[in-house]
Amino acid sequence: MNEQPLALRARGVRKSYGGVHALKGVDIEVRAGEVLCLAGANGSGKSTLIKIIAGVENTDDGEIEIGGEAVGRLSVSGAVDRGIQVIFQDMSLFPNLTVAENIAMSARIARGRRLVSERDARRVAQAVVDRLGLHLDLDAEVGDLPISDRQLVAICRALALDVKVLFMDEPTTALTWREVDTLFGVVEQLKAQGVAIVFVSHKTEEVFGISDRITVIRNGEVVADDVAAAFTHDSLVEALLGYAATEERVLSALPADPSPAMEVEELSSTDLFADVSFTIGKGEIVGLAGLLGSGRAEVAEAVFGKLPITGGTVRVDGRVVEIRGVEDALAAGIAYVPGDRLTQGVFLEQSIGTNLVAASLDGVTRTGGVLDGRRIDEQVTALIDDLSIKIGSAEDAVSTLSGGNQQRVVLGKWLATEPQVLILNGPTVGVDAGSKAAIMQILRRQAEAGMGVLLISDDVPELVSVCHRVLFIRRGRMDGEVAGDEVTVSSVRERLEK
Ligand SMILES: Nc1ncnc2c1ncn2[C@@H]1O[C@H](COP(=O)(O)OP(=O)(O)OP(=O)(O)O)[C@@H](O)[C@H]1O
Ligand SMILES: [Mg+2]
Repeated sequence: MNEQPLALRARGVRKSYGGVHALKGVDIEVRAGEVLCLAGANGSGKSTLIKIIAGVENTDDGEIEIGGEAVGRLSVSGAVDRGIQVIFQDMSLFPNLTVAENIAMSARIARGRRLVSERDARRVAQAVVDRLGLHLDLDAEVGDLPISDRQLVAICRALALDVKVLFMDEPTTALTWREVDTLFGVVEQLKAQGVAIVFVSHKTEEVFGISDRITVIRNGEVVADDVAAAFTHDSLVEALLGYAATEERVLSALPADPSPAMEVEELSSTDLFADVSFTIGKGEIVGLAGLLGSGRAEVAEAVFGKLPITGGTVRVDGRVVEIRGVEDALAAGIAYVPGDRLTQGVFLEQSIGTNLVAASLDGVTRTGGVLDGRRIDEQVTALIDDLSIKIGSAEDAVSTLSGGNQQRVVLGKWLATEPQVLILNGPTVGVDAGSKAAIMQILRRQAEAGMGVLLISDDVPELVSVCHRVLFIRRGRMDGEVAGDEVTVSSVRERLEK
């Protein structure tokens, strides 16, 4: 039992957005030196609760105590002064500033001295980076860094101030295994220094790896709260969804006389991958597994016209297609759901409706180039319905949706192009177990309607649950495949790790 003092206690926190009751009286507490996992399905209210405690949003009702002291209405700087720091889902970094400037930013603002010298900024930043034993180029522009490094910059920024409670809202979604290890090392250090950590993740393996306690929210209410050891994977998933979700292997029916949807022959892209060949049949769901850096995403991006093809051919429905850019790929009937929805997938400040039709404007344009308002509405309504996107109104900005619902908008946007070949890269990153099963079901349905699907994923159970075949790629070259009954979690893992 952790006998440390309470770092934070919230009682009866309520919040509504229009008619949406995001929080219906939530209680949470976390002690110094404790890692609390805040678990819950997409849209259950986790980020909302964090924003309230950080002073970003106002509560409708409820009490918050920080370090044993009741605080009234919190402002952002009030929360920061009391040692609350948050790494938000979107990280909120400044891409055109350097690493050092980003890290020093909050420290400068808190001290009311925006115009601190470059040297001071560097000193503050260097101290934090050293404290965590990280290797970051302080002079690099954050916009040029890979997502994983940006994640570390966001953590450093939070630590540039005296932090007592650190919230991490899905900090690992864009990280590789090794980077997650580094992050967890940092978490252990902070814990030893008496920092309370509240951690949000949809990956149960991680949750069990790092948490001391788990608080589960469902539909804006706490439904379970116990030490982590009191939960199993299944009981946690059931607590947060309200029903049991399985990842059983269920294959969509293949057509009686299969013909190829896409044939890729000896495809190369200088320095990225070479001589990649594979076929996806109509109605077939094919997995593409490989470690990060194996070239798996690059193959998809080349086929979608985002990376140069320097050799080989791509056929769609038997016809060779010349792919020089995204336009060509779309025209040929190829759609691509990118891995990083925050930077590539959606226009966050645009409405849900606009995003859903953004890639398929041809289908909703009348002769003469005028957009057909009624067709747009019909299509948007159908997609929202089909994908069970949980929204207030289609007019709302995508940024008002929970992470998992944003992911469905990205998927819907590409499904609306009615592609012959749908390529997805990590489509369920940040998605809860229930929505994940729902997305897999959507893929099965699309396949049964004749689409060829290529699924790139790190999530082995997910690949096994839907794929007829799984292809492997290693160092930019194809490296065998498993099919039918050979597709099991252990066979795929074994081949990946060999
Ligand atoms: N600014 C807003 N305007 C309208 N509704 C909002 C806003 N922010 C959140 N909501 C709604 O409040 C509910 C809770 O959202 P929240 O972002 O807290 O979910 P979450 O638990 O963080 O989900 P996820 O795991 O998907 O990130 C959702 O129904 C969401 O659509
Ligand atoms: Mg969230």
